[in-house]
Amino acid sequence: MERQNVLVQPEELEHQRTFEEKIKAMFESRQAHPRACVDTFGCQQNVADGQKLMGMLVSCGFTLTSEPAEADLVILNTCAVREHAEDRVFGNLGALTHTKKENPEQIICLCGCMAQEPRVSERVKKSYPLVNLVFGPHALWKFPELLWQVYESRKRVFSVQDEHGTIAEGIPVVREKGVKAWVSIMYGCNNFCSYCIVPYVRGRERSRDPQAVLAEVRELVEAGYKDITLLGQNVNSYGNDLDIGYHFPDLLADIDKIPGDYWIRFMSSHPKDATKRLFDVMAGSRHVARQLHLPVQSGNDRVLREMNRRYTRQQYLDLVNYAKRVMPGLVLTSDIIIGFPGETEAEAMDTVSLVEEVGFDALFTFIYSPRPGTKAAQMPDPATRAEKQQWFDKLLEVQNAMSAKLHAAYVGKTVRVLVDGDSDDPDFPLSSRTEGNRLVRLKGGPELLGKFIDVEITGSNTWALYGQPV
Ligand code: 5AD
Ligand code: SF4
Repeated sequence: MERQNVLVQPEELEHQRTFEEKIKAMFESRQAHPRACVDTFGCQQNVADGQKLMGMLVSCGFTLTSEPAEADLVILNTCAVREHAEDRVFGNLGALTHTKKENPEQIICLCGCMAQEPRVSERVKKSYPLVNLVFGPHALWKFPELLWQVYESRKRVFSVQDEHGTIAEGIPVVREKGVKAWVSIMYGCNNFCSYCIVPYVRGRERSRDPQAVLAEVRELVEAGYKDITLLGQNVNSYGNDLDIGYHFPDLLADIDKIPGDYWIRFMSSHPKDATKRLFDVMAGSRHVARQLHLPVQSGNDRVLREMNRRYTRQQYLDLVNYAKRVMPGLVLTSDIIIGFPGETEAEAMDTVSLVEEVGFDALFTFIYSPRPGTKAAQMPDPATRAEKQQWFDKLLEVQNAMSAKLHAAYVGKTVRVLVDGDSDDPDFPLSSRTEGNRLVRLKGGPELLGKFIDVEITGSNTWALYGQPV
């Protein structure tokens, strides 16, 4: 891939700022105080994109609200990874029909992965005339220009061309207040797992310049963020497209040299590209959390092959065993799909047995959802939904018991946590995270927010630990 073509040139980005100024001036001349609501679905990558949209909206003169009904502009920042996420977006569009009746001037935008699917943008074009602007992830950086077109032309704007995908540096960002921040280090995916829509909507892998990533992390640490997550569909192939002999472990090692009191996490990792060197760098670092999210998807070799995952059950086990050996106490989580087309009960139970064998701290579990346009969506899928649900329930039962057991082993121990927010439990009003990202509900007052402290774990269940400061 030609790197020159991948980077959005600084002049083009500067040009976008002029559209922000135009929109702002338009509102000022009307003495309007417009409000915008960004509703983000799906993964952390989308959350990070949502923060960029908010940054651009603020530069356009909007204040932000979480209430679509009171907003002059609503953005649905969508996810396409499973059908359920898509259904929710169409449900929300239905609800917005009512708010738009109340406020006909309201601008409605649809963006994110769903917007990049031709099937979806066609449906929106035909059946949802209330939507003013549709743009895919490739066009995110030119949102100010697209929005200006909407205001100026009063026509519907669709920017959903199937492009290669770009990298745009320096888009303004509105971050969550507090201690956590997300940093995209790369975009896109080259893996084409047969069930997955992501490579079709987010384009090919492209890595940000290491110096740009390092500068952003340094800024975040200096601004007081303490829990920073590096994002990419597959961070383990970071750098492959840069051709400078610089890879993900190199980036981690360089970030680790940034002085300060903070944790670095990353997600997601593809097992086929996770190396022993990565685990060695993690083990030798001061700031990289001893936590690994390593999606396995299935514990059966035939299913893994059909999924195009390019590793075997044994290779996965060898990898996690090595990681656990060099990082005692490593907290391990994973993604699992049950009911891939053609999966039998015995094959699903291979996944359950792998889960038992590894002893994950927690799992993100999904029932397979066909995504039109992917290879798996064309495979015969004879198992019924009820059968899949049974296998899924079995998996949950095994995992919940494992999580409860691993959590119970913390009771009586003292662990270091980062206090990151409020909890909804009045007896334990604070929420905090261990280095392994386990949730600890905590006794204590708001003065502890944003601090690393030692806590004694006094209780546990499947989902959380409970504790008090020592
Ligand atoms: N059906 C169900 N789960 C899916 N995932 C991705 N595509 C699908 C699909 N079509 C899951 C995978 C992935 C996670 C982000 O979502 O487990 O790791
Ligand atoms: Fe989808 Fe596989 Fe890429 Fe992950 S690695 S985004 S599951 S294609």
